[in-house]
Amino acid sequence: MAGTVHDMMDESSAATEAVPDERPGVMAVEEEKGFQTVGQVEVESPRISVRNCNVWYADKQAIFDVSLDIAANEVIAMIGPSGCGKSTFLRCLNRMNDTIEICRVSGQILLDGEDIQGKDVDVVPLRARVGMVFQKPNPFPKSIYDNVAYGPKIHGLCRNKTELDEMVHQSLVKAGLWEEVKDRLDQPGTGLSGGQQQRLCIARAIAVDPEVILMDEPCSALDPIATARIEDLIDELRHKYTICIVTHSMQQAARVSQRTAYFHLGRLIEVDQTDQIFTNPAHKLTEDYITGRFG
Ligand SMILES: Nc1ncnc2c1ncn2[C@@H]1O[C@H](COP(=O)(O)OP(=O)(O)OP(=O)(O)O)[C@@H](O)[C@H]1O
Ligand SMILES: [Mg+2]
Repeated sequence: MAGTVHDMMDESSAATEAVPDERPGVMAVEEEKGFQTVGQVEVESPRISVRNCNVWYADKQAIFDVSLDIAANEVIAMIGPSGCGKSTFLRCLNRMNDTIEICRVSGQILLDGEDIQGKDVDVVPLRARVGMVFQKPNPFPKSIYDNVAYGPKIHGLCRNKTELDEMVHQSLVKAGLWEEVKDRLDQPGTGLSGGQQQRLCIARAIAVDPEVILMDEPCSALDPIATARIEDLIDELRHKYTICIVTHSMQQAARVSQRTAYFHLGRLIEVDQTDQIFTNPAHKLTEDYITGRFG
């Protein structure tokens, strides 16, 4: 297990003597070396385990030495000011950064103990195991049925049409969309409301039987009612999947997650139980952010 918050604070403080606060403060972030995330980086039996992850866009570094475990069946929220690297870090977890030519990732990223960074790793099955839902719902220009059936088809998960029908049905049920679309499966996915489209994208991710679902601000384009539906869904889905959600809403992080990770200028400043982060953060930067002093 990781050291306690206090152990880590002690180490961090020792590495940064110039800190003008009894807690590891702003100065610690400026330090190239000796920076240590405060809180519970390690978990027992992690599903994902990231160590010393650094990311560059050309020669500009966006993520600095981030280490973080993510447990099975947890929802972990990633919060922090715009540009702090939340999306960049999330994209490391299913190698979506590979699609950005100037982007380079170093460090170790294990999924169920296997390194996903290796050159021989096929990213297509990886991205089925670690699915992604984006800020803006992005259904394919196909029918509702085909949006969900596409993944199982290309991954060869169903032997016949009956199995495929059942997979589509089950995925739409799990995504909380079945009742609303069961009579119009042949109509375009793009014809649904924004909240329905986002649930369709979640159904599409679920259809390939993932282990982890990455969500990058999945509700930011939705109204409060659609947002509440997605939040309820996240809570149900975590019984089967691991969910990493980036959000700008601290209320949302508090509602849906069990742990919260606070990022600042490309560094993971603090990670801990969500109630701990929001009621008694250990790091001054986390406190400044959650109390609205910046960001
Ligand atoms: N494709 C890219 N090319 C170059 N730089 C990029 C690219 N994507 C992100 N960056 C830079 O990397 C840093 C982190 O960006 P990132 O998008 O991960 O932040 P974020 O925390 O997700 O921000 P937001 O909350 O605004 O979505 C920023 O300085 C950003 O300008
Ligand atoms: Mg982002």
